[in-house]
Amino acid sequence: MSKMSEAGGADGSARPAAPLPNTAALGETSLAPGDYEQLGRRLGKSRLRQRLNTQVYHAAGEAHQEEILFGLGRVVEIDALVERLARLLGIYRWGRNNFLGLRLVEHRIRHPRLPAGLEGLTLLQLSDLHLDLDPALGAVIRDRLRGVDYDVAVITGDFRNKTCADQEPSVMETVTLLAALRGPVYGVLGNHDFIEIVPPLERAGMRFLLNEVDRIRFGGAELYLAGVDDPNFYRTHDLAGVRDAIPDGAFSVLLCHSPETYREAAGHGFDVMLSGHTHGGQCCLPGGHALVRVCDAPKPMQAGAWRYQELHGYTSVGTGACGVPLRYFCPPEITLHRLERG
Ligand SMILES: [Fe+2]
Repeated sequence: MSKMSEAGGADGSARPAAPLPNTAALGETSLAPGDYEQLGRRLGKSRLRQRLNTQVYHAAGEAHQEEILFGLGRVVEIDALVERLARLLGIYRWGRNNFLGLRLVEHRIRHPRLPAGLEGLTLLQLSDLHLDLDPALGAVIRDRLRGVDYDVAVITGDFRNKTCADQEPSVMETVTLLAALRGPVYGVLGNHDFIEIVPPLERAGMRFLLNEVDRIRFGGAELYLAGVDDPNFYRTHDLAGVRDAIPDGAFSVLLCHSPETYREAAGHGFDVMLSGHTHGGQCCLPGGHALVRVCDAPKPMQAGAWRYQELHGYTSVGTGACGVPLRYFCPPEITLHRLERG
């Protein structure tokens, strides 16, 4: 089964499938006739069914994610609590200035297997945009991107703030952002995203990798860019499937919203893995020590560059913020990854 391009991704089964769940409760989706069938061919019918069912339960309040602070979020509004506390302590404005203080982080990925032709290829990574959280963020990102040089842009998931709110505001903000990006723009879904954002954003010019692989030619060489669906909440990722679509010996970069699949990714032989999801803790103690962790990955994989066996990884602390437009001791970033032979 090929996972390359749009021809791949279907489960290829002729057996009768259970009907897809009714997604009318999810509200306005801006979908066109045939979009769900197309998504099913790409993600695989069983995974699409699993994702849509989870989305419906989640929208109905019957599924929970982000079990932070020992489940305290089920009984109190954590975001409102944090905001009130910040105002009481007089650190709200400082935290919001930090949130809007977007850094450009330049990172070199030195890899011994990099084909000579890919030397110097630069990937721009945005992650965890949560663009509907604060209307000021979009313009800040577009300003920061002005004059930045790169070859390919990737967005490693989480376009929306709330995990089951109206997705239209974040889609519209993302469409505006896409106009400020150059060259090919790839993305994967995060745990805050419903799959219904894929068709409108692809019509606006970006390309989602739904357990799919695309081949990028650069300098006479080839890079295989793989992307999997969210492994954290929806668990509809298919690392084995995308790996099977990459020729043996080819150089590969994996986009995966959460770094928690690092061990599996290394086992499949991916060369590079780019993730987000952790926000680096977002509101940290001095020194960047996170108070909250949202995935089961070792501390080195929670923020910045890391290495596991032959896998070279990088976890963005996020371009935006989630829940509250505040950051402490953990500034947001857009990241420039320059590939070099090392
Ligand atoms: Fe996020």
